Formats: sequence, C-alpha cells, structure tokens
Amino acid sequence: MKTVILIGALGKMGQAALTGLGNHKVITAGRSGDVDHIVDITSEQSIRDLYKKVGHFDAVVNTVGFCEYTSFAEMTETQWMTTVMSKMMGQINLVRIGQEYIADSGSFTLISGILNTKPIPYAIADATTSGAIDTFVKCVAFEMPRNTRINVINPTVLAEAWHVYGEMMPGFEPVPGKLVGKAFERSVDGFITGEIIFVDA
Ligand SMILES: NC(=O)c1ccc[n+]([C@@H]2O[C@H](COP(=O)([O-])OP(=O)(O)OC[C@H]3O[C@@H](n4cnc5c(N)ncnc54)[C@H](OP(=O)(O)O)[C@@H]3O)[C@@H](O)[C@H]2O)c1
Repeated sequence: MKTVILIGALGKMGQAALTGLGNHKVITAGRSGDVDHIVDITSEQSIRDLYKKVGHFDAVVNTVGFCEYTSFAEMTETQWMTTVMSKMMGQINLVRIGQEYIADSGSFTLISGILNTKPIPYAIADATTSGAIDTFVKCVAFEMPRNTRINVINPTVLAEAWHVYGEMMPGFEPVPGKLVGKAFERSVDGFITGEIIFVDA
C-alpha cells in the first residue's frame, strides 16, 4: 500500500482518479471543501506547506488545471496567464517542489487532456497548456531524481462531465471515469515513466 496525495480530489477528474487508487492510502487535497488538506496549486508556498504537512508520501496524483475558454481572438493575456499559472506552472511546480519531498522510487501523475491532439473551438488555452504538460512529462522523466517516475493522463471527456462539455464537443465519445481511473492506476502502480497515457474512445 502506498501513500498517495490526490490533488483536486473533489473535482470530476479527481473522482475518476480515485476509482483507480483503491489499493492505497489516499490523502485528499483541494482548494476548498471536505478534503484532508487545503492547497492552491498556483501558490509555491501552499504547495510546499502541503508536502511538509503530509510528511511521508509515495505518489502525487494531480487532477487540477484550471483553464479559460474563449476564442483566440477574444482571449486576453490575463486569461492566458490564469491558465498557464494553473494547468502548466501549477503542475510543474507540484513536481519541482515535490521532488524534494517525495519518497525514493515515488511517482508523479499529472493531467492534460485530449484537446491538444483533437482541437475544438474556444479551447486554445487548454490545448496549449495540455501540450506543454505532455512535453514536460516526456522530457523531465530523464531528469527525475532517486528513481522517481512521472506520467501524465491525457483523457478525452468524461461521461460524468458530458452534460457540461458535450455541446462543445460534437463527434467526441465520452469515456467512463472508471476507465480513466485505470490509467491513473497504471501510472501509480506500474513501472512506466515519461509516458503520456491517452484514454480515448
Ligand atoms: N472533466 C473532463 O471530462 C476532463 C477531460 C480531460 C481533461 N480534463 C482536465 O482535468 C482537469 C480537471 O477537470 P475537472 O473536470 O475535474 O474540473 P472540476 O470538476 O471543475 O474540478 C476541479 C477541481 O480542482 C480544484 N481547483 C481548482 N483550482 C485549484 C487550485 N488552484 N488549487 C487547488 N485546487 C484547485 C477545484 O476546487 P474548487 O471547487 O474549490 O474550485 C475542483 O475541486 C482540467 O485541467 C481539465 O482540463 C477534464
């Protein structure tokens, strides 16, 4: 049994990830609500405080990455930076700071999303930062210390979120959260590293 910090645990992707972590001691974290620890992934201090408070942990699973959705013509620099500081730098900082605290042979699992390979209108910031995270994971795997691993889950839309995003995504087929949970399980329980684990229908 591993000790796993699940960030964004109350969100839709967090709930999907949770279905794949049944064999482990899961410590939940998020920005608000009924979680074990409150954390804001856009704050370096908040991330550091989380790791210090938890103490020993073998895995970090992050499912947070806030994105602004509008057309490229309408997207302001502020909206770009909000997305970059959450979905891109927030996740990079979870790893950058987390490598100081994670147990030997531990693992990080990040979140991206299918829109960087299957673009749709209004999702340019999500697509761009998802692509950045996929690239970050593939390349930083060669520099991870103490036998630690890193992977990213790149899922299509969840069945549980279809009522929110379905209208924006004609021609897409949603996948059940339980299937996406398997991808998180493969990352945490397997030996792979530097992988972009796609979950598509
Ligand atoms: N849903 C899908 O079908 C799907 C598919 C592929 C990829 N994704 C990606 O998965 C990620 C999460 O999506 P989701 O659908 O799970 O969203 P969600 O249901 O809105 O959940 C997001 C969770 O993250 C928390 N959060 C937001 N900003 C935070 C921060 N700075 N620090 C800590 N926690 C924060 C939220 O807390 P509060 O409630 O306090 O705001 C909420 O609990 C996104 O990057 C999305 O692009 C989602």
